[in-house]
Amino acid sequence: MFDFNYYTPTKVVFGKNTEAKVADLIKEFGGTKILIHYGGGSVVRSGLLKRVTDTLDEAGISFVTLGGAVPNPHLGLVYEGIELCKKENVDFLLAVGGGSAIDSAKAIGYGVANEGDVWDFYDYKRQAAGCLPLGVILTIAATGSEMSDSSVITKEEGLVKRGYSSDFSRARFAIMNPELTMTLPDYQTACGCTDIMMHTMERYFTNGGNMEITDALAEGLLRTVKKNAVILRDDPKNYDARAEVMWAGSLAHNGLTGCGNDGGDWMTHKLEHELGGLYDVAHGAGLAAIWGSWARYVMNDCLPRFKKFAVNVMDVADKGTDEEIALKGIEAMEDFYRSINMPTNLRELGVDPTEEELIEMAHKCAVGVGGEMGSAKVLNEEAMLSIYRASI
Ligand code: NZQ
Ligand code: ZN
Repeated sequence: MFDFNYYTPTKVVFGKNTEAKVADLIKEFGGTKILIHYGGGSVVRSGLLKRVTDTLDEAGISFVTLGGAVPNPHLGLVYEGIELCKKENVDFLLAVGGGSAIDSAKAIGYGVANEGDVWDFYDYKRQAAGCLPLGVILTIAATGSEMSDSSVITKEEGLVKRGYSSDFSRARFAIMNPELTMTLPDYQTACGCTDIMMHTMERYFTNGGNMEITDALAEGLLRTVKKNAVILRDDPKNYDARAEVMWAGSLAHNGLTGCGNDGGDWMTHKLEHELGGLYDVAHGAGLAAIWGSWARYVMNDCLPRFKKFAVNVMDVADKGTDEEIALKGIEAMEDFYRSINMPTNLRELGVDPTEEELIEMAHKCAVGVGGEMGSAKVLNEEAMLSIYRASI
């Protein structure tokens, strides 16, 4: 095993009606002037935004609002948010929504706390020295951004989607009421479950440092989400299933399921980010569409882990060669994706890239990872292109 740091400073307030505590939490963490940042309007339609602003009004906390964070959130709105915060002397950010609103808020926070162009951080040019404090009211279980150190932003010019990670952006608090996720379209619920599982799988398919305790947590989390994703497919208002998935989403990306390993593989995410940047697909669906091709490409370089996954997570019988068992595990995972209406290739995802576009994505992906990356197998630009081609 490798040495590790485990840092999860976010105060989690979990359960029914917990959004009513938002004013107390903001006061607890010292916020006096708030930017409430949200997405395309689901929080307006559900009445959540009104409940939040009423609560702040009653508590005498002043705020400004900025909606419009789109899935695969844009840099342009981040710049707008930075200007608004500076003009209004905002000292605390409240993201109400999913990963897109949270990530956009984190980027705004970096832009306010640091001089210069905020894109520099996402472009690997320099490191942030701080971020405005952030609180979250989560409305979709998916990215784990409510406890993660990451933020993913798309620069409209060139459609470049890049992530930046630092502990400065970890939320001070995360309000998680599973009931708030009940208005989600079924597709988004399934995308969320896929993303949650993938955050743990990225840390699971590695070639170094795995610990028994971490594997047990990871496998338990994967089995739990797999089971509850199917329950939610048939019964979307099931509170307990919503709660299992919501908590799994945070644990899958707060570092817990990576303790002791070499940091994880992350190439499925990197390959998906190019799809998200170019075709604006939902992140979870993009992951499902690319994973099978990635898995088949890297499997033989990480065989013990693929076999363990097949047996312990996908219930494949421990019979036959390691390669046969590993392959059955990949097929079982793809069957699971189909069962929750997730795509298993680009066609099913609804995109039909030309050869030139595949080459462009592989090139951007390679540039984005500094040439090559991966733990299950190190991938260079040529390997990335092979995986994109196999995923059509
Ligand atoms: O924008 P609104 O109107 O709110 O609608 C959203 C959006 O259309 C809707 N939605 C969310 N909660 C809802 C709801 N609709 C009805 N009822 C609710 N309760 O769902 C759609 C998706 O929302 P979004 O925030 O985009 O989803 P998600 O949480 O999956 O975030 C995706 C973004 O996060 C990035 C992704 O790449 C993508 O840009 N990621 C962020 C990570 C992080 N910060 O740690 C890690 C991830 O791997 C990921 O890359
Ligand atoms: Zn993800």
